[in-house]
Amino acid sequence: MTSNHKHTHAQWGSRLGFILAAVGSAVGLGNIWKFPYMLGKSGGSAFMFTYLACIVLIGLPILSAEWLIGRRGQRNPIDAMKTVAQQEGRSKAWAIIGASGTLGGYLILSFYSVIGGWSMNYIVKAGSGLFSGMTGEQTGAVFTSMLANPTGLLIWHTIFMAVTIFIVAAGVTGGLERGSKIMMPLLAAFLGVLVIYGANTGHFGEALSFLFKPDWGAINADVLLSALGHAFFTLSLGMGIMLAYGSYLGKEVNLLRSAAIVVILDTAIAVLAGLAIFPIVFANGLDTEAGPGLVFVTLPIAFGNMSGGTVLGLIFFLLLSFAALTSSISLLESSVEFLEERTRMNRVGSTLVAGIVVWLLGVASALSFNVWSDVKIMDLNIFDLLDVFTSKFTLPLSGFAIVVFMGWFMKQDSIRDELRLGGAFKIWQFIYRVIAPVGVIIVFVQQLIG
Ligand code: TRP
Repeated sequence: MTSNHKHTHAQWGSRLGFILAAVGSAVGLGNIWKFPYMLGKSGGSAFMFTYLACIVLIGLPILSAEWLIGRRGQRNPIDAMKTVAQQEGRSKAWAIIGASGTLGGYLILSFYSVIGGWSMNYIVKAGSGLFSGMTGEQTGAVFTSMLANPTGLLIWHTIFMAVTIFIVAAGVTGGLERGSKIMMPLLAAFLGVLVIYGANTGHFGEALSFLFKPDWGAINADVLLSALGHAFFTLSLGMGIMLAYGSYLGKEVNLLRSAAIVVILDTAIAVLAGLAIFPIVFANGLDTEAGPGLVFVTLPIAFGNMSGGTVLGLIFFLLLSFAALTSSISLLESSVEFLEERTRMNRVGSTLVAGIVVWLLGVASALSFNVWSDVKIMDLNIFDLLDVFTSKFTLPLSGFAIVVFMGWFMKQDSIRDELRLGGAFKIWQFIYRVIAPVGVIIVFVQQLIG
């Protein structure tokens, strides 16, 4: 991203730069760490199909809505919502969507950074050859002992956060995002290698039917809400981040086409990760419901038992950490932008303040895996609570408010011109006016009565 100063809000140097930043934000731990374990927890194909439906019918419209509003607002998410609401003759109170998003960004980044720390830690573990010849039981033990060590978790969380803060404070996010041009295809290629490894040595058929053989009966209220929440999480929606990116966007960019590119790339990486991991799960008799440790227990088995696995494992976790960083900078960026535009603090000061608050919150998440594992609120530890509260609550609700605002509170004529859809506009309008909001409502109500 080109740097922005207080009053001259910059624009993307190129359409490619914008797409890279959006993909960089979208593709991250959500695709490789979270998606597979949620698949495992929610019955495989049941989750896969509801997730794909949520991505297309709800994610895509909301992604383009965020960009459209951001492009008109030309400011940080809170002020952008306010500006656009005023232009449309609506209440300034709509700014609250931007505010809840910015707040949610802090909450997500706090636990995201802990997992980013795991990934960085695994660069060292894999590179040292630790996983050579290991069985699933042994890689499981490595993971469990990492969680049991609070000092280690805190150190890696601190390193991950420090790198994030450094990149955002130095205003070099653009450089990192340009790096995605090489790193993302490489990450996809590595996943491809792991899929081939799984197809040759793992229980590939079993994995395929787990992931794709329809099992409609397994779709229940919880699967629906998890899939919806994950669609928001993986596309970086509902936090005003895409809104902020839209604010740097020129009028010439085709929003829907760009949104489709981001959605397809993001989904492809997630599905590849699922295809890489589950053959290993079945071949080693591991539990599909292992939860957050799934990736960190399965992939090391593959790296530990393939030739050249030490180097490949090292590079893989480097790429994963890189993908996590391009997402974490996007999570920090929008609140920094707000502080920078609204207070007297400059970029470095704003980043330090926001970053330190997030780091502190993250300490609580890290400790919830060990010394604070008994601290429970509504039966969830701090890490789970932050995850559930954001994915199943704040993200869908702010996304809902954003599409409702676009569908029912903005002048539709200008949106038609902006989306450049011609005759197909009516269909699209039906999607963001009715399908997307009603979809969110149904999922919420199901959850309440389920
Ligand atoms: N989408 C990222 C991932 O899948 C995480 C992320 C970055 C995010 N920015 C976000 C999630 C904003 C929600 C909102 O790893």
